[in-house]
Amino acid sequence: MKRFVFALALVAFNSFADDAAEGRAKADAACALCHGPNGVASMPGAPNLAGQQAIYLSEQLKNYRSGKRHHEVMSYIAKPLTDAEITQLAAWYSSIKVTVEAP
Ligand code: HEC
Repeated sequence: MKRFVFALALVAFNSFADDAAEGRAKADAACALCHGPNGVASMPGAPNLAGQQAIYLSEQLKNYRSGKRHHEVMSYIAKPLTDAEITQLAAWYSSIKVTVEAP
């Protein structure tokens, strides 16, 4: 039983790592211009995505896609994304480690 649970955890981890790698390639091509190559925004007005929770990121992308959340640029960008692509993009941005320092 223990071994089974471990194997399951490993599969889950591997698929997250695969998703993150796929997501990174997609983000480099479609998102980095505004959200930065490492998810720290490079365009004024664009939010940082690095280290954000995957569940939050995928929810926002689905909200843009469905029209529940509207933004001129993001609604257009999210429209053609599939559920799988959203999972990959969210895995990539959430896998980036950020450190926080109080001023
Ligand atoms: C042309 C610039 C631009 C590009 C390209 C772009 N974004 Fe955005 N993104 C923005 C801006 C501006 C916002 C803030 C929108 C708002 O106020 O709702 C945003 C918001 C978001 C949010 C919501 C963040 C939050 O904190 O709620 C997510 C998630 C996101 N973008 C993901 C992506 C992904 C994934 C891609 C690539 C597929 C992408 N964006 C491409 C400009 C961009």
